[in-house]
Formats: sequence, C-alpha cells, structure tokens
Amino acid sequence: MTLGSHPIGIFDSGIGGATVLRQLQRLLPYEDLLFLADHANCPYGARPAAELRALSAANTRWLLDRGAKQIVVACNTASAAALHWLRREFAHVPFVGMVPAVKPAAAQTRSGVVGVLATPTTIRGALLDEVVLRWAGGAQVLRQGCPGLVERIEAGELNTPSTLALLETYLRPLLAAGADTLVLGCTHYPFLAPQIQQIAGSHVRLLDAAPAVARQAGRVLAERGLLRPVGAGAGAITYATTGDTTALAGLISRLALPPGLVVRADTTAR
Ligand code: DGL
Repeated sequence: MTLGSHPIGIFDSGIGGATVLRQLQRLLPYEDLLFLADHANCPYGARPAAELRALSAANTRWLLDRGAKQIVVACNTASAAALHWLRREFAHVPFVGMVPAVKPAAAQTRSGVVGVLATPTTIRGALLDEVVLRWAGGAQVLRQGCPGLVERIEAGELNTPSTLALLETYLRPLLAAGADTLVLGCTHYPFLAPQIQQIAGSHVRLLDAAPAVARQAGRVLAERGLLRPVGAGAGAITYATTGDTTALAGLISRLALPPGLVVRADTTAR
C-alpha cells in the first residue's frame, strides 16, 4: 500500500473539527478521513498553551499510529497554541492548521469593522495578534471571546433559548460597533451559522476558514505526491472519540454529518 492510500488525520477537541471534515470530503471525495475528537478533554478553549501542546501531541501520535499521511489541526485553539511546535516536534509530518479568516474579512468589509468570534485562548493568543497585524490593513478588528458556545454545540443545543441568548450577548456589542463581517474563529461555530446570521441580519457576512483549509490540505498532498488516486472509489470516514461513542454517533446524525464508522480512541495508551 503506498502512502497515498493512507487516511488524512484530523483532530479537534470535539465535534467542531467535523466542519473541516465536511469541506475535506467535498473537495477530496476519494480520500479516507480519520477524525479524532478529544471529548475526554473538551473544551480546549480555556486551557493553557503547554497543556494544549501535550494534548495535540497525543492526538497527533494516535493518528500517526493509524497511518495518517497528513494531520489537519481542525481546531483554532490548538492551532494557535501548538501548530508551530507540532511542526518542529514531528518534523516529517505535513501539518495544516486553522488561521482565523481575518485576511478575507478585511478585504470584504464595507463598514471597516470586523468581528472575530473565538474561544478565550484563541482571542488572547499570539497567532491572532500576528494575523491582525499582518492582514487587517485599515480595518478595525474587534475580538469577542465566546465561552460556553462549544458546550452548547456539543450538547446538540443549536436552537434553544439559552443558546440564542448567549449568542445575543456575544454578537450585540460587535453589531453595535458597526461590524458587517464576522470571522468564525472556532471550528465549532459554523454549526451555529444560521442562528448567528439570523441575529446579525442578512447584511452581515460570516467567514469560515474551513473551505480554505481543505484547499490547503489538498495542495500540500498534491505537492508531496500523496493524493489518493482518483478512481480509487469514495473514501471512508471514521470518527474516533476519547469520550462516549454513543453520544458522538447521536451528534453525527443530529448535525447531519456524513455517515461513518464510530470508534473509541485512547490517546494515552501507545
Ligand atoms: N473547535 C475548537 C476551536 O476551533 C475548540 C473549541 C474548544 O474546545 O473550546 O477552537
């Protein structure tokens, strides 16, 4: 078996990474996708960087042990805390990570005000500072940490009054300041895109980096000659969790994610 026929490994703290998996499947339907959700340690959003590096390394090892030819860090929080470090630690592994979509947001805003929604760790992180410094240009970039949203999504509570009230709390200050472009800076948040759009209004544009990350993953595989041959048949999807497989299977169907095998993962044992 050549390396090209190995799966693409993807990880996140939880189901959020599946918003990236969806885009990968759309763009690279022949690829096998092995998705690891670290539910035992979810949420990642308020954890210190050193802990996120250790968790990211354990996730990476688990995926590599199962033959992953590439690792997609489908988590903004882990990317901000660990991506540079992972690339040094696992020097031969091609990594692709999340970067908040500030560059397209700054290019598209008409009001000149962009809002970034993300976890507290991403909001405080150096990666967002770098991206804003490099790409914001003349746009004003307002940052909004959104503690609690990941937990709602993991519970499958997208349309409940308490989730909508929490979203209102986070969105109102950005909208009042004139933001017309909102960056979804956490891979869980695209699941709430319809609710966010409803509160913000149709004139507000939502930006999700997942399609660009999927394209980048495809480019990296192509450059290395690692794409699965076209005609190999549709790729298989495996969802693994360090938590409860029954809960994950329920969430996959509730969120209308592509079907796949659901397995339990222990990232602490090697
Ligand atoms: N989906 C993740 C992110 O993109 C992690 C969220 C969390 O676990 O707090 O940041």
